[in-house]
Amino acid sequence: LQGHPSKALQGRAMPVEYVMYQGIKFPPAYNSEQSLHFAHREFQVQDDDVFNVTYPKSGTVWMTEILSLICRTVLNSTRMPWFTTRLGLEAALNYPPPRLLTCHLPIQLFPTSFFGSRAKVIYTLRNPKDVLVSYFYFSKMCSSYEDPESFEQFLGDFLSGDAVPHGSWFNHVRGWMEMKGKDNFFFTTYEELQQDLRGSVQRLCQFLGQALDEGALTAVVENASFRTMRENQMCNSTLLPADIMDQEKGTFLRKGICGDWKNHFTAAQSKAFDGIYRDRMGGLLGAFPWD
Ligand code: A3P
Repeated sequence: LQGHPSKALQGRAMPVEYVMYQGIKFPPAYNSEQSLHFAHREFQVQDDDVFNVTYPKSGTVWMTEILSLICRTVLNSTRMPWFTTRLGLEAALNYPPPRLLTCHLPIQLFPTSFFGSRAKVIYTLRNPKDVLVSYFYFSKMCSSYEDPESFEQFLGDFLSGDAVPHGSWFNHVRGWMEMKGKDNFFFTTYEELQQDLRGSVQRLCQFLGQALDEGALTAVVENASFRTMRENQMCNSTLLPADIMDQEKGTFLRKGICGDWKNHFTAAQSKAFDGIYRDRMGGLLGAFPWD
């Protein structure tokens, strides 16, 4: 990771030099144009691959923990490589099947070989207002993201789409929702995980064809709780070097709740957000799945 531009290395005043791929910004510490191109065009998807796909801050690491707890045949040390990143790609290529893989890719950049395969995708959606708040705090602590000037500015970038790394939330969700209803696509929400983690794990087991007895199910639910994960160095990001993730500027497992946006948005900001949401999403998601 050394030698890559980040605000920690360059000083806070310097902008982060994002990697651009197909018009979307990606954080430089992890991605390169080559790794993204390889993931998109050349990465060979296998029929027994399972992908954990999200827009950032939607519960990626939570789902990673759940899946790696369900699929205990996979070594925890290898877990779920981020195959779009420089280090993760190598891990993914050396990974014995069946692979569990993670990414934030929008559907148009997902490995083209996926579309002719029987590989599975699990997509986790989260209330975009909570995504935005979580992303705002995460951007402050992660050196690969530009420090937001203010909440107002970050909100403007989020709503304008591709100004934020990983691109527009709206396009990400719109794209992936095209897969809804397909046999190899499992759709869930952060809010559903919160409301009924045990039931969610049971439904995931069914989708994955993994039978867990009651004891194993209870262990997954306990280990995937916010309290346990926050203490678990294997998933709370505290082992990452400070020049990548500065623990003095925030906590990766920050609050872990639904509705924190209400503590951040003004009434006017919320109204403007809702208007843009309606314009961009139409009735795509039906009633808000997070309500
Ligand atoms: P907050 O910042 O709102 O607390 P991602 O992994 O996609 O980057 O998402 C991070 C968000 O998921 C953070 O949200 C984090 O606290 C939350 N999260 C992670 N594990 C969780 C858990 N077990 N229960 C509830 N929230 C969790």
